[in-house]
Formats: sequence, structure tokens, C-alpha cells
Amino acid sequence: MTHPEKDALNSSAFMKACRREPAPYTPIWVLRQAGRYMAEYREVRAKVSFLELCKTPELAAEVTVTAAKRLGVDAAIIFSDILVLLEPLGMELEFTKGEGPVLHNALREPAQIDALREVDPSESLGFVFDAIGLTRKELPASLPLIGFSGAPFTLAAYAIEGGSSRNFDLTKAFMYRHPGAWAELMGKLSRAVAAYLRGQIDAGAQVVQLFDSWVGCLSPSDYRRYVLPHTSEIIRRLQPGVPVIHFGVGTGMLLEAMREAGGDVIGLDFHVELDSAWARLEGVGVQGNLDPVTLLASREFALERAGRVLEQAAGKPGHIFNLGHGVLPSTPVDNVIALVDFVHERSARSERR
Ligand code: CP3
Repeated sequence: MTHPEKDALNSSAFMKACRREPAPYTPIWVLRQAGRYMAEYREVRAKVSFLELCKTPELAAEVTVTAAKRLGVDAAIIFSDILVLLEPLGMELEFTKGEGPVLHNALREPAQIDALREVDPSESLGFVFDAIGLTRKELPASLPLIGFSGAPFTLAAYAIEGGSSRNFDLTKAFMYRHPGAWAELMGKLSRAVAAYLRGQIDAGAQVVQLFDSWVGCLSPSDYRRYVLPHTSEIIRRLQPGVPVIHFGVGTGMLLEAMREAGGDVIGLDFHVELDSAWARLEGVGVQGNLDPVTLLASREFALERAGRVLEQAAGKPGHIFNLGHGVLPSTPVDNVIALVDFVHERSARSERR
């Protein structure tokens, strides 16, 4: 990347917010911004399976860039899935029509942890790095690209449950019953995640997001004991100066501990009020937290609620506007575009865009 290109990226509103510097307006992107709610995505998906889409760099780049441009957001996020990292460990992953993701050889015994392979992402996940390289070339010079990975707890939860779960009983029981094997699993996942994110940064991602989507099923003391050291270790191993966004759902009671684990920006879901949550998070930015369901209610209602989120952020440097969780498949795209325009206009500060 040339110097002017780096400068254009670094002086973008999104990168400024990641560094908690004043920005001319509040930057926004949308969790799961490339997805089934968008006709352009459905058109590509009609031709290939979800995993094929993830593994075909040209197509992954295309849906990434199309979504970012269509919405007019301030960052792109590479099209992939947190679960692709489980395959090179030795997990058999399938996305089924009705049930969502399925891991056919779910981890239920400590011996299965020993058998998991160490992951070399340059060998097994090169398609993600290639997609990032292609996307970086196709994106406007000033539009940052977010790389991402599942955090080790959330990845372990899918591997142990064998798919999605309501209460994560099997995961927690395994963690309590086999603390040694749990630590080994978290160690293997953490090394894989760190190498994977480092590779994404080398390939052209300006920021990375760690999705610990389901860690909200733990108490703060269990989080500190079974998760925090591992997440922390990953963040320590990343290239210095690259902002990290650390996100979970239903993590209101874990926010201080998640901040301690690391991250320049903490992702807030819609269960918390942005102002009181941010007040508990000294020294970091926040991302969030409009309830995605408001976009199904009506455009007026969503924009009114978006206005409240902006009021709670009070124009303080370090706020990235986003939904409190992924955009739902039945969301009208025009409502999302209206949200992006609204956030830009309402938050515009003295300097014009
Ligand atoms: O934001 C983006 O545009 C980037 C793409 C992205 C996807 N998944 C694409 C996807 C990202 C960032 C993810 C992350 C992800 N995947 C998370 C963390 C974020 C969160 O929601 O908490 C999780 C938990 C997953 C696991 C996953 N992937 C599930 C449970 C499912 C099935 C349910 C569903 O939403 O469909 C997926 C599939 C998936 N990942 C789709 C997309 C667009 C739908 C697949 C399809 O086209 O049929």
C-alpha cells in the first residue's frame, strides 16, 4: 500500500473513531451487512452454497464490496463466517437449510481435544486472505476493511454443542468438568485465532473484530477464569496499532471484564443503554447499539431510536454506530440505507463531509 492510500484510510471517520479521535460525523456500519436481506446477495447465493461463497475469493470480495457501496457505510467487513476456522482444526462443518450450522463431530470427550490439529491459516484459510486482498483493491481508497474471527469461547461453544444452542449447557458442563481439556482447547483455538487475525491484517484488513457472541452465558467470575486470559493473549499477539473491536451479545454484566481482556472498542448489544454502559468503560470506544428489530417496526421508529443512540453517545469521540446484533433477513434494505443517511446527517459536526 502506498503512503497516500494509507493516509486516506487513517484519516477516515471510522479509523478516527477507533482511535477515539474527533471525527466529522459518527461512522456507521451494520453487523451482517452483506446477507440475505439484500437482493444482490441472494442473487449470488442462488448460484453457490454459503460455504462455497466463503471459499471463492472473487465472490466473497464481490458481496463485501457490493454491500458496503449499496449502504454507503463507513467500513466494509470481509464476507466470511466465524465457523470456517473450525474446519482446519478437524471439525466437520455443514450449513443446513433448516438448522443453521452443524458440526458433525461435536467435541464431547477430552480425548477429542488432543486429536484436534494445530491450524496454519496460510495453508488452510488462504481463501480468506485472498478475498481480503481482492476486496482491498476494489474498495474506495478511504474505506477501511474489517477482518474478523470468532473468539475462542464462542468457537468452542459451536464445537462442543455441535451447532447453535440456547443455554450452552454442554459447553459449560465440559468447561466445569474438564478444566484441563478446556484450557487445552482454548489454547489451540487462541493460537489459531491469533495467527488467523494476523494473516488478515497482513492481507489488508485495517481493523479486526473478535466476535464472542455467546459468552454472555457466563458469570463474570467464570468469564475471568475460563475465558479472559485466552482472549487477552490473542489481542496481545496482534500487530500493535491495529484497532481491535471486541463484541458479545447479552454481555451487559461482563463489560468491565471484556474491556480488561482487551480491545480498543467494545461492541455493545441492544440489552444495555449506551450511555451508562460507556460510562463503565474507561479508556475505550464503543460500537453499537440500535436494536435490529426496530428496522422491522417502521423506518420512522428506527430513526427515532437511532436518534436516541446518538444522544446517548453525545458526540463523544470513539463512538461507531452499529446495530446491537446482526441485521435480520426480513429487514427492508431501504430502511438500512435511511439509517446510514440519518446517522451521517444527524451527527455531522462543524467540518463538512
Ligand atoms: O457482517 C457481514 O456482512 C460479514 C459476514 C458475517 C457472516 N457471519 C455471514 C453469514 C459475519 C461477520 C458472520 C459472523 C458470525 N457467524 C457470527 C458472529 C456474529 C453474530 O451474529 O453474533 C456467528 C455467531 C456466526 C455463525 C453463523 N453463521 C450462524 C449461527 C449462521 C446461521 C444463522 C444465520 O444467520 O443464517 C451463519 C450463516 C451466515 N453467516 C449467513 C451469513 C450471510 C447466512 C448464510 C446464508 O446465506 O444462507
